[in-house]
Amino acid sequence: MSAKVCKTLISEEEIKEKIIEMGQRIAKDYAGKNLFVIGILKGSIIFLSDLVRAIPIPLKMDFMAVSSYGASTQTSGVVRILKDLETDLTDKDVLIVEDIVDTGLTLSYLIDNLRSRNPKSLNICTFLDKPSRRKATIELEYNGFEIPDEFVVGYGLDFNEEFRNLPYIGIVEITK
Ligand code: IMP
Ligand code: MG
Repeated sequence: MSAKVCKTLISEEEIKEKIIEMGQRIAKDYAGKNLFVIGILKGSIIFLSDLVRAIPIPLKMDFMAVSSYGASTQTSGVVRILKDLETDLTDKDVLIVEDIVDTGLTLSYLIDNLRSRNPKSLNICTFLDKPSRRKATIELEYNGFEIPDEFVVGYGLDFNEEFRNLPYIGIVEITK
């Protein structure tokens, strides 16, 4: 099986503009609050590292890793925590940062799990939203781009661990 990027869906320029816009909105909404950003590894790292630098207010961050698709492009529905937070969430205004919401099953599990740790507030910030395949209803407070039902890579997103370093979002073509 091999994969190659066949088309650019979102350019580097469009991403840059969107990050500034999202950062400004988050800074305004969280001014005077106790902003605690949780990045979901590994897909969100590029987005998160650009986003936090566009949020001109104090914040802290931590990371979680959960199991995802592995080498397939289908979700298993089974979510496993591979790396947990190092911080207690009590009194924190938590913002979960995700690369993409597809079926929503991963986030749905994470939201329940993190809510049970009693944060002061909990919101979601996703770079991409693929609403056509949603299986769990999730409120996305901050949402970069809505995309069609295509498998995309780049800007942190992978296919079989490849393509995370592309500075744009591309559509992948898989050949057997
Ligand atoms: P969900 O549980 O179906 O919402 O999927 C969540 C995870 O699946 C994301 O955090 C990604 O790691 C992965 N994923 C879903 N769609 C794509 C895609 O188009 N490209 C790369 N990874 C994806
Ligand atoms: Mg992934």
